[in-house]
Amino acid sequence: MNVVTPIGEFASRRDTTVDGEHPRNVIADIAARPRGQARIITVANEKGGVGKSTVAFHLAVALADTGHKVLAIDLDRRQQTLTRTLTARGGTAKRLGVRLPLPRHLLLQQQSGAQLCQEIARAGWDCDFVVIDAAGHDSPIARRAIALADLLVSPVNSSFADLDLLGRFHPVSNKLLGPGCFAATVTELRQARADAGLPVLDWLVLQNRKRRETSKNQDRVDTALRRMAPRLDFRLGAGLFERVAYRELFLLGLTHIDLRRIPELARTKAVATGEVMTLLDDLEIEGEADGLLGGGVLETVGTWNRARVPA
Ligand SMILES: Nc1ncnc2c1ncn2[C@@H]1O[C@H](COP(=O)(O)OP(=O)(O)OP(=O)(O)O)[C@@H](O)[C@H]1O
Ligand SMILES: [Mg+2]
Repeated sequence: MNVVTPIGEFASRRDTTVDGEHPRNVIADIAARPRGQARIITVANEKGGVGKSTVAFHLAVALADTGHKVLAIDLDRRQQTLTRTLTARGGTAKRLGVRLPLPRHLLLQQQSGAQLCQEIARAGWDCDFVVIDAAGHDSPIARRAIALADLLVSPVNSSFADLDLLGRFHPVSNKLLGPGCFAATVTELRQARADAGLPVLDWLVLQNRKRRETSKNQDRVDTALRRMAPRLDFRLGAGLFERVAYRELFLLGLTHIDLRRIPELARTKAVATGEVMTLLDDLEIEGEADGLLGGGVLETVGTWNRARVPA
């Protein structure tokens, strides 16, 4: 994936320096620190309430479910949504007496880039993946999490109010005029990474809370995202539909893919399960599809995760 054009053209129009932290300085600091083996997936979007914590939770659980060692990091010290749902997951497993793969997780108390790097090195030293859930606003720590990532996942709702943070469109001609504020930040960080010789940051954008019925708005959103993808250099994932079950299961710390292990809640909807699994397909991690679709998931749960499943 090439980030030089047209990203450079868009990026040159803005200065996204925040709190004195220029993207070049953020990247220079990251480049100077030792990197662990874990692949880092940051779920971020400056827009609030678009489903970041929901997606981060499902990704962390789905990766743990396929036998990976996963560290989930909650950057949102105020809401602590990811922390709460992963804590609830442990409690639910205990109450129901089932073995559920549990990602290791921590809440970042001190919102500093140095602390984030240290926690990844300390708690994630033996992990295959670190999944970071950012809060829904711009901040130095969110930027640090994006800069550190191998893959940035950004959920968006099917609304032009959300899309505006990715790209600015002409209201009449629908021409893409330039990146929105979040895309500009991502673009600068990617450019700074490229300038420092770091690997290109892969960016996956997912529509969340999609509606099943077709509508003029949905068509316009689909078209706008397809137009933006090559210009801003992101991939479009399959995304998630609006489902009450996402909200209900979230409270219990469960995902659809857990339901096959819990006869008491045996109302697994194959379609929704497939939707969660598609999330992993969209990550484009080599060899994942076999593990996901081959069944016998309990057998594929690694010893690290088994050891953490409550009895
Ligand atoms: N696909 C979905 N179907 C139904 N409800 C959903 C879906 N995705 C998210 N939600 C609900 O939308 C609300 C916001 O989701 P979530 O907390 O994941 O967003 P967020 O981007 O992390 O928010 P914040 O920016 O405040 O951190 C929650 O009530 C969540 O349960
Ligand atoms: Mg959140």
